[in-house]
Amino acid sequence: MKFKLAIVSALLAVGFSAQAAPIVIKYSHVVTDVTPKGQAALKFKELAEKKLAGKVEVQVFSNSQLFGDGKEMEALVLGDVQIIAPSLAKFSKYTPKLQIFDLPFLFTDIAAVDRFQASKEGQDLLRSMEKKGIIGLGYLHNGMKQLSANAPLGSPTDAKGMKFRIQSSDVLEAQFKAVGGNPQKLAFAEVYQALQTGVVDGTENPWSNIYSKKFHEVQKYIMDSNHGVLDYMVITNAGWWNKLPADIRKGLNEAMVESIKFGNKVAYDEDAAFRAKVIAENKAKVLPMSKEHLAAWRTAMQPVWKQFEGEIGADLIQAAQKANK
Ligand code: LMR
Repeated sequence: MKFKLAIVSALLAVGFSAQAAPIVIKYSHVVTDVTPKGQAALKFKELAEKKLAGKVEVQVFSNSQLFGDGKEMEALVLGDVQIIAPSLAKFSKYTPKLQIFDLPFLFTDIAAVDRFQASKEGQDLLRSMEKKGIIGLGYLHNGMKQLSANAPLGSPTDAKGMKFRIQSSDVLEAQFKAVGGNPQKLAFAEVYQALQTGVVDGTENPWSNIYSKKFHEVQKYIMDSNHGVLDYMVITNAGWWNKLPADIRKGLNEAMVESIKFGNKVAYDEDAAFRAKVIAENKAKVLPMSKEHLAAWRTAMQPVWKQFEGEIGADLIQAAQKANK
């Protein structure tokens, strides 16, 4: 009897603890907590843990603490991390179509990017990597990219011979080669030091990344170029996601949609504020670009579109252009 009771209570204890153990969800990214992505990840944790109280525990790892570029995608596919939000420039190994977001001067502003992402063509891209074990849960904005360098960049010929750090994207490589630059693919966590030590002379990033990673302290000039976009796709491991209990998946999905809305609002509202902070610190000079100079950059970089049209698809490029009003 005693023995039976002991077994029953042991089973109950196991059952109880198995039920009580929350599903641990690791959300890893490479930027700081103050950026749109950083804030969206923290919002996701808050919302998911509220909606699914006791059922999930979300652990957010920012600033490349857990995985940096290059490693994070592999880790997701292996199941070592459940959610990541890489820049759209970092997906070409998985789908060449997403290279569309790197084409220089394709989108006039973030609102146009948003319209394209919301279109049928944009939404289809979220599901384009399922066979590779990746599901896109949504797009998340950061902002338009600004050129920075240790010399002012007015005309595109000013970039000749300059070394530029780029994300791991062949389109971005072609973009800087088109103006005679020497692009180098480097992980985000290495950019500050590469700029500081002169491994590279310049780079491109939106204001939130420039400010929060202090790139303005190691660059003499930042140009208001808005020549391209840096946005993200929030992705998850398809096998893991599809095996989640339906109520958990639903709750996580709702939390994700809301957290993305929140992050996008941060992206819209705070882009100018990050720019203003860079100006206020007065370490790098922020230079406007004239219409003539911007037109010259656009002309110099335009051949990149044709170069990648085969991989991306002419139809998709047209659909993206339609999003510009
Ligand atoms: C970069 O590598 O410059 C960006 O993709 C970093 C990020 O996640 O915003």
